[in-house]
This record gives sequence, C-alpha cells and structure tokens, in this order.
Amino acid sequence: MKSVLITGATINTGVAIVEKFASEGKNVVFTGRDPVKVAEAEKSYRAKFPNVDIIGCAIDSLIDERTVDEDGVAELFEFLDTKGIFVETLVLNAADQGLGQKIFENPITDFMKVLNTNVVWNYCLCKHAAARMKENGGGNIVFINSNTAYRAIPDRVAYVASKGGQLGLMRALAIDLGKYNIRVNAVLPGMIRTDRWVKNPDFYATVPSRYTPIGDVADGADIADAVWYFAECARNTTGAELVVDGGNTVQLYPIIK
Ligand SMILES: NC(=O)c1ccc[n+]([C@@H]2O[C@H](COP(=O)([O-])OP(=O)(O)OC[C@H]3O[C@@H](n4cnc5c(N)ncnc54)[C@H](OP(=O)(O)O)[C@@H]3O)[C@@H](O)[C@H]2O)c1
Repeated sequence: MKSVLITGATINTGVAIVEKFASEGKNVVFTGRDPVKVAEAEKSYRAKFPNVDIIGCAIDSLIDERTVDEDGVAELFEFLDTKGIFVETLVLNAADQGLGQKIFENPITDFMKVLNTNVVWNYCLCKHAAARMKENGGGNIVFINSNTAYRAIPDRVAYVASKGGQLGLMRALAIDLGKYNIRVNAVLPGMIRTDRWVKNPDFYATVPSRYTPIGDVADGADIADAVWYFAECARNTTGAELVVDGGNTVQLYPIIK
C-alpha cells in the first residue's frame, strides 16, 4: 500500500499537510514523539478521513548532541514493511526550533542537538525511505525548510545553520537519487500562522503588514499546497526550492505607512 509519511504531524503545519494528502485520497503515516498525542491525532484524523488509511507512529529516537539513533529510524521503516506500507512520499516537517539560543550563553551541545535533529536525523529518514523507493521504482522527498536558510533571524543560530545545511542535503540527495527516479525538493516557508505566532499579539499588529508585500503570513494549508505540488505535480522537478513567504525574503526593508 502506497503512503505519504509526514514527520512531526500532531500539531501545526504537519496537521495541515496530513489533511491535504488525506483529503486528496492518499494514505498517510505520521510521526510524533509523544504516544498520547499521536494516538489522539490518529483518532481525530481517522474520524475526519474515513476513506483513507491513517497510521500514527510514536517515535522518540534518541537524538542528542553526540548521537542520532539510526536504529530507531530503521525500526520505523521495518514496522511499515511488516504492514505492507511503502512510503512513496516522505515529508520532513518536524524540526527542533532551537528557540532563544544565544552565542555566549548556550553550551555548544545545544547547537549540536539542533543540527543532529534537523540535518542528521532527517538524513537517516531519507536514507531508509530512499532504499525502499529505489526498490519500488521511485518516490519523492520534500523538506519543510525555511526562508531563514537565506535571511537570518536573531538568537536562532543553530536553527538557521541547520536550515542552510538542510538545503545542501536536499541538493546532494537530488543528485545521488535522481537515477532511481527519486525526486528531492524543499518548501521554504516564511512565517506560518501556528499557535506560536497566534499567542503573540504584537506580531500580528506589525509583522504581516510591514514585512510581507502580500500583507499576510502563510497558513499551514499554503505550505501543504506547496508540498502537494512537489509530490504530485512536479514530475520533472528535483533539487528545487519553493519559497512560500508572502514575499518576505525579497523585501529589503519594512514598510512604514
Ligand atoms: N512556524 C513557522 O513560522 C515556520 C517558519 C518557517 C519554517 N517553518 C518550518 O516548518 C516546519 C513546521 O513548523 P511548525 O511551526 O508547524 O513546527 P512545530 O509546531 O514547532 O513542530 C512540528 C513538530 O516537530 C516535532 N519536533 C519538535 N522538536 C523536535 C525534536 N527535537 N525532535 C523531533 N521532532 C521534533 C514536534 O513533534 P512532537 O512533539 O509531536 O514530536 C512538533 O510537533 C518546521 O520544519 C519549521 O522549521 C516553520
């Protein structure tokens, strides 16, 4: 059975991506680290989309500053093999946000943990998914990256570095996997309307109108549409980036009215 696998999909953008694919009739596997949240999300997705197969997998792989548990990733794919599930599309949505990391205050281990999650762990997922795509005639991988790969923001040094590294990973995988009919692309959101943003009223008063020519930030559904494009509509596209940020990246300075 063909499925899309979406990481970190119990809240926020991951939910919108699950809903997009399920509403288009695709079977979905999603992950999260908390078994209770995964079970709740699975129940709610299944009630909303009774005509597709939706499976939640709780995986709390060991990721710290020194190691990434590749065995945990291998076990996830072996479990899907036992269920007869082939991950035709892998969407790498989960991310360690590395919020508030300050150069002179945070230990280097904080930096390393973010890099290990956002680059090394995602590489492991790509490796195990791609091995199966290669055997099944192809597939595709979509990174949820960030426009911070190009334009940095304060106190997020590890996150910004990790998103830059992710783009290099995306391009290298596109080169190495193209011959197996595996496409690898990246969506670069700017600000997305998640609970984190909604809890910050100052943000809504200033940022969308001043920092995006379109005057609004993205909804999760806007990101999900871009993922859908790469996965289902872009047969000849690999190693590409699609920026979904209301024009935030190309605007040089804030608009003051
Ligand atoms: N929100 C924005 O404004 C924005 C802007 C640009 C780019 N993005 C990118 O868009 C994607 C989704 O953003 P979001 O704001 O919706 O994400 P989010 O809510 O911060 O996190 C998504 C999921 O990532 C998982 N996660 C967090 N830390 C993790 C860790 N250390 N190891 C493994 N999984 C972890 C969590 O799943 P569990 O807790 O269930 O495991 C969480 O539900 C991310 O890649 C993000 O970098 C977001």
